Amino acid sequence: MKNLFKYKNLMGKKIKNICCIGAGYVGGPTMAVIAYKCPHLNVNVIDISEERIKSWNNKNADEIPIYEPGLSELIKKCRGKNLFFSNDIKKHIAEADMIFISVNTPTKTKGIGAGKASDLKWVESSARQIAMHANGFTIVVEKSTLPVKTAEVIKSILDAAQENYQNKSNSGKFSVLSNPEFLSEGTAINDLINPDRVLIGGEDEDSIEALSQIYNNWVPKEKILKTNIWSSELAKLTSNAFLAQRISSINSISALCEATGADIREVSRAIGSDSRIGSKFLESGPGFGGSCFKKDILNLVYLSEYFGLPEVASFWNEVVKINTWHQHRIAELITKKLFGTLSAKKIAILGFSFKSNTNDTRESAAIQICKDLMDEGAFLCIHDPKVSKGQIAKDLNCEPKNNNLESITIQEKAYSGVWQSAIDIKTALKNADAAVILTEWEEYSQINWYQLANTMRSPAWVFDSRSIINRKNVVDAGLNFWRVGDGVT
Ligand code: UDX
Ligand code: ADP
Repeated sequence: MKNLFKYKNLMGKKIKNICCIGAGYVGGPTMAVIAYKCPHLNVNVIDISEERIKSWNNKNADEIPIYEPGLSELIKKCRGKNLFFSNDIKKHIAEADMIFISVNTPTKTKGIGAGKASDLKWVESSARQIAMHANGFTIVVEKSTLPVKTAEVIKSILDAAQENYQNKSNSGKFSVLSNPEFLSEGTAINDLINPDRVLIGGEDEDSIEALSQIYNNWVPKEKILKTNIWSSELAKLTSNAFLAQRISSINSISALCEATGADIREVSRAIGSDSRIGSKFLESGPGFGGSCFKKDILNLVYLSEYFGLPEVASFWNEVVKINTWHQHRIAELITKKLFGTLSAKKIAILGFSFKSNTNDTRESAAIQICKDLMDEGAFLCIHDPKVSKGQIAKDLNCEPKNNNLESITIQEKAYSGVWQSAIDIKTALKNADAAVILTEWEEYSQINWYQLANTMRSPAWVFDSRSIINRKNVVDAGLNFWRVGDGVT
């Protein structure tokens, strides 16, 4: 009966106005691609943060808040035509036929499920905003990475609102869909334009069809998978858990390679050639980061515990534990190689984002590794081509030393928590006892070690956690070299 009612509401109605709540790493690129591929649609991206919206509307499209290759070109093409960024939440929700929820869902820090469950307060407030301002039949699409059963939360808020406003002729009537995002930062535009699959979960076939038609403007029909809402939500969490599990597996084997004399790159190539395993996502690094992997696995752990499946919970929890262990392992081995003490030593950190081609630092391995090194008394000089000094300070929870490197006394250097940001690689390496590569930025693979080795303090080390440096170049320049999973010395 309810479905028939919804069907009646959608019949004949063409989707024209789309609104996305949340102008972040998911909402911004996703809406830019929809606007680009669907010039017949009006796309409004709204956010509570005035600063964010101001930044998206920056005249210089290269200064938008998110660094993502190809994104600023799309913004130049579509912004002001059929793509708009605004703080006018009420207006754009009221006008929308379809609303995407793309807000942040960090792990809860307190209360029930703290440390595991996602904090849904922003999702809840988005649902309330929709309930309050929506006009007529509206399709609500959950886009952010969300724990299983979130659609139910959104639905109950919307249904309650529908009952409250049932006498108002313009009150909202809703259908909730799950359409999880599989974009990977750094390659988001390509991932959105050429997705492996698009997943749409829901109950109301008309709404599923309406969303499917939008994607069908550029995605072939066979790549659009339609499921029930719970399968869609769980598939998203599980995809990320499987990917993260591959990285924890290969990182655990990297330690074994170092101990036995094997080389992780060779091992990885050999196992990746098995077509049942596949070659992607097998690169050992400093540990996975990003806004999704840890959060999604912890959601899976929480869900399994909640449904009385402790063995399943502990199986997945181990993937996160190995990741944290691996980060501590790298910091520890750096300390050991530098004669067991980092006190008053300068370490150049090359790369702070969680991977290259993004300015996102959420859960970046660099955060834990830098904190560990500072706890050992190291003085860090941090370089990243896209991450701001302010962001690093926030992540390390401590302000940089602004004075001249040379003017910092030995005593100060020996204090834990001393770091400075470097304007370029050369400055970072000057007088450093070690360089630690934590992000695979292209420019780090091209460093001329012959030229810079002399500016470091001997005996200096290069630690390559991303396998992007040519060993011979470093060793020939007279530097000591370590790279992840390399037991062949
Ligand atoms: C991930 C998923 O890939 C994407 O589908 C999902 O929807 C969002 O989460 P993202 O977090 O942007 O995307 O980055 P991803 O490319 O998956 O990398 C995650 C982490 O794994 C990074 O820290 C990366 O450096 C690391 N990684 C990746 C490795 O250490 N080795 C690899 O082989 C691949
Ligand atoms: P993601 O990686 O999931 O896109 P981000 O943190 O980059 O996460 O972006 C989420 C955005 O959602 C932020 O810009 C935040 O200000 C915005 N946001 C959160 N809650 C609301 C809300 N209730 N209404 C509008 N915008 C919101």
